[in-house]
Amino acid sequence: MRHSDIVAIVMLKAPALAPLLLVPLLHAEIRYLPSPKLWHLSAANVSYVFGVNNENQLQQVYWGPRLWRDADLTPPHTGLPWASFDTPGMTTPEEYPAWGGGRHLETCLKLTRADGVRDVILQYVTHSIQNGALTIHLKDKIDNIRVTLTYRISPTGILEKKAAVHNSTTQTITVESLQSGVWNLPLDSSYRLTTTFGRWAGEWQLEQEDVRPGQKILESRRGLTSHQANPWFMLDTGRASESHGRVWFGALAWSGNWRLTVEQSTHGQVRVTGGYNPFDLAWPLKPGESLESPSFYAGFTTHGFGEASRLLHRFTRDEILPNKRLRPVLYNSWEATTFHVTEEGQKALATIAAKLGVERFVMDDGWFGARNNDRAGLGDWTVNPKKFPRGLKPLIDHVHQLGMDFGLWVEPEMVNPDSGLYRAHPDWALHQAGRPRSEQRNQLMLNLARGDVKEYLFTVLDRLVTENDIQFLKWDANRNMTEPGWPEVPPADQKKLYIQYTRNLYEIIDRLRRKHPNLEIESCSGGGGRVDLGILRRTDQVWTSDNTDALDRLRIQEGFSYAYPTRVMMAWVTDVPNFNHRTTPLAFRFLTAMQGALGIGNNLNKMSAEDLDFSKRMIAWYKSVRATIQTGNLYRLASPRAGDFTANQYVSEDGKQSVVFGLLHAQHFGYPVPPLRLAGLDEKAVYRLHPLHPDKLELPTPELSGAWLMDHGLSFRLTGDYDATAVVLERLE
Ligand code: DGJ
Repeated sequence: MRHSDIVAIVMLKAPALAPLLLVPLLHAEIRYLPSPKLWHLSAANVSYVFGVNNENQLQQVYWGPRLWRDADLTPPHTGLPWASFDTPGMTTPEEYPAWGGGRHLETCLKLTRADGVRDVILQYVTHSIQNGALTIHLKDKIDNIRVTLTYRISPTGILEKKAAVHNSTTQTITVESLQSGVWNLPLDSSYRLTTTFGRWAGEWQLEQEDVRPGQKILESRRGLTSHQANPWFMLDTGRASESHGRVWFGALAWSGNWRLTVEQSTHGQVRVTGGYNPFDLAWPLKPGESLESPSFYAGFTTHGFGEASRLLHRFTRDEILPNKRLRPVLYNSWEATTFHVTEEGQKALATIAAKLGVERFVMDDGWFGARNNDRAGLGDWTVNPKKFPRGLKPLIDHVHQLGMDFGLWVEPEMVNPDSGLYRAHPDWALHQAGRPRSEQRNQLMLNLARGDVKEYLFTVLDRLVTENDIQFLKWDANRNMTEPGWPEVPPADQKKLYIQYTRNLYEIIDRLRRKHPNLEIESCSGGGGRVDLGILRRTDQVWTSDNTDALDRLRIQEGFSYAYPTRVMMAWVTDVPNFNHRTTPLAFRFLTAMQGALGIGNNLNKMSAEDLDFSKRMIAWYKSVRATIQTGNLYRLASPRAGDFTANQYVSEDGKQSVVFGLLHAQHFGYPVPPLRLAGLDEKAVYRLHPLHPDKLELPTPELSGAWLMDHGLSFRLTGDYDATAVVLERLE
């Protein structure tokens, strides 16, 4: 019996264990089975199998619960043609189809050779399995266009696919579409797609719709990830719920133009193809050159949307984020002072923030150049001498003396036409020769695809961080690409801009981090416009949304939590009335924001002594549970979309602590909040409960079993509008 068989049996004999607890027992492995010519990637509760078919092409065989019996696996065979209209290419779940040879579905590669020939038929050549990665080499049936596919699988069963196309011919080829890969799903007619859509200040709106024949395109053509759509998907069958049912899910690690094509063929095959957005893309490859795709990650669970999110969260925390440091409580000046920052004003805010227990003070927009509003100064990254006559040092020293670290807002990719930078380099802004330049928020976007712009920005940021004791940058980007021209390069190369821009952005951040290992970075694009696994590889947190209204936030945070972990989700408490002109109590705002990485954005000068004291107590309480909130497993117990009550529970990785938040939006007809059944606990364990507000929780006895808490539930005494509380559970030995 092989070791892989043994671990599979361990899994079968332990069905009662919570799924994530099985993970350490089941290691990740990639095996090649030579006689059926199949690769079997397996880890945790997942198997992914594909192989070489009778046409010497790659064909997907299986993706779902972990398999243990190799003898079940037989060599793949192409599908049958359908009448004279559909070739086998249309009826076969191909693993990496290129456009050519009778394929009319979305393909992974589309190119044009210099001689005009566009047909590509990829066939298997060879493979290797090394250092946890499977590499497969493919080649066109006729000429020397080659493709390398790379696969990995994480211990929790998250698969990674990426592809590179190599021009080993003697003529230039132009790549018009390069996808990381396609995920074929098991045949089933009841798939439902879940993802998020939105707009500025309304990001992360969950949408669910049935998958029907045809294509559903999720994409950005804006040069950045976008507020409008985000590169992740979940597909469930049989109407999965939060805790039950089969869910396949994935996320693309790219912050530029991206596209996911969710498609159901008329033969019933559901597939998700993802990679660079082919819109307006052309990447010429001279002989010997290559182009690599971003990574596309995907996973599977039989335990519903909640488990799908927890698997993505854990993977992102363990394998994507650049460090494991807990997020400090930060103060951000934007909503308090907007552009009107001064040394004295910021010092005053910092003094109060430190008394509240804030650990990081961030000065937002307005500190540089002639930046008194959004009409001027962007691009001139030198300290405004009127606002900071002695430079930034006195403020930074003050912040440090108060025991906090210092962070600074920057928006490096942008320029106001009214700035020294634009006057010196008008050609650095994105534009197309002889065409108007569209301004948004009175700003243009620099063409970061240019090597000189990249070097300039690196130098400016490096100098800023070297000359000042800055531990954190909030990296903002308040518009999307328009007129994305690149007149300085030959016309054939101009459409390389989208990919090269994002690559250079990544390079600047990577170089900065290498040179300043303690520097942390927040990705912001007018809120959540640049959040994806590509940017999260090199940033520590993201600004979720410019909408800080607590009630809207509950839905924003829920949508965000489907794909991304709590740890990176910045959530501020701010002044009211807020967005929607809504006024919510300070406790409700805190209990909402404390479900992410907590920030404070109030004008502290205007807060009453009572509110300051309350904030101080809330921040201290948050610190006592933040490890569980930021790195624990999230259970979404009551959705803000489903009714007037939201509840979320966080369970620490070791199961010793759990934190439950309950928030009533509005009470109706005097009805009480129904008992809330908890999740993720050990039914045999006993927990001691520490309510944040003892009067808001019905608690006959302070110690309760996991079974009682999960099967009977907790009753919150919440009344009226915007009433909220939390309770901490400590597991007793
Ligand atoms: C947009 C960001 O999302 C805000 O938090 C703030 O930093 C402003 N830009 C500053 O201009």
